[in-house]
Amino acid sequence: MDVILGIESSCDETSASICIDGHIYSNVIANQTIHEKFGGVVPELASRAHQQHIIPAVQQAIAEAKIDKNDLKAVAFTRGPGLLGSLLVGTTFAKGLALGLSIPLIEVNHMQAHILAHFIEDPKPNFPFICLTVSGGHTQLVLVKNYFDMELLGQTLDDAAGEAFDKSAKILQLPYPGGPLIDKYAKEGNPRAFKFPNPQVGGLDFSFSGLKTSIMQFVKKEEAQQPGFVQAHLADICASIQDRIVSILLNRLQQAVDQTGIKEVAIAGGVSANSGLRHGLVQLGAEKGWTVHIPKMSYCTDNAAMIAIAGYYKYLQKDFVGQDISPLARWSVTG
Ligand code: KG4
Ligand code: ZN
Repeated sequence: MDVILGIESSCDETSASICIDGHIYSNVIANQTIHEKFGGVVPELASRAHQQHIIPAVQQAIAEAKIDKNDLKAVAFTRGPGLLGSLLVGTTFAKGLALGLSIPLIEVNHMQAHILAHFIEDPKPNFPFICLTVSGGHTQLVLVKNYFDMELLGQTLDDAAGEAFDKSAKILQLPYPGGPLIDKYAKEGNPRAFKFPNPQVGGLDFSFSGLKTSIMQFVKKEEAQQPGFVQAHLADICASIQDRIVSILLNRLQQAVDQTGIKEVAIAGGVSANSGLRHGLVQLGAEKGWTVHIPKMSYCTDNAAMIAIAGYYKYLQKDFVGQDISPLARWSVTG
């Protein structure tokens, strides 16, 4: 039995998961609510919370999978990219556990893991496929040639898609993280109520900072003319913002398909939980004859199941690292 423990601690979720022979048996996620009142993740507080959560999360993952820690064959951990202090907690814990149990240590790239989450359940994508990875820190179009052979086709030049959701939400005075709230209010709104600009960027890259500025100006102007405007039109504003972000993402994805001729497409990362993006992709895929892969909700946002499955494929290749390994705050999806 190939039993792999996956550990994720790159941002504000402490997570542990057990993968046995390529199947996930547990996926424990400890969310950090402490950041809500600060309107964003506070790195120092995130590291401290990881310190508190990591041992209970790992113990729970082992218990839920009904195994013993001595059954573990390897420990896979997120080496990066992410917040350095947060990564250090997971990395140090993984190193200590691997050393104590005399088992191999496996480094995992968080952005590759978001994509490899598609290999947790059937139907799995066929190589090569195109993945639009959209999270709080990244927006990337990736050509996935094999498990660990990936090419970056395009990326954001400024804010990530998740950041665009969260910053828009902040302008609307919604709490952090605002992405899921925009999604919630958008369901009751009219996506054509307000028109926000389409950024003019070349190639397969993205830009969201202009959109943020235009939303800020729009809110300022409307509130000056009519105090309480945002509150009165919240659903329509959220629906219009979401519609614009989703259309930017799907247009680029379509361009990537046209350029590469690859019609097998996937989305990954926290923003792939967005209902507008999920519906939009299903519709576009049906229209264009694509094979579409949309992750299960629990595998969209940060989780250790994706680290454990990526670790499992590395374990099969005996791709291990030594105890001298240290985290990487920046690390490309290309490896
Ligand atoms: O992948 P993730 O959990 O963490 C990073 O690696 O960054 O992504 C978190 C991001 C946040 O910006 C959050 O607002 C966004 O994903 N997000 C959503 C939704 N759920 C999470 N954005 C829009 N709609 C959602 N339903
Ligand atoms: Zn992530």
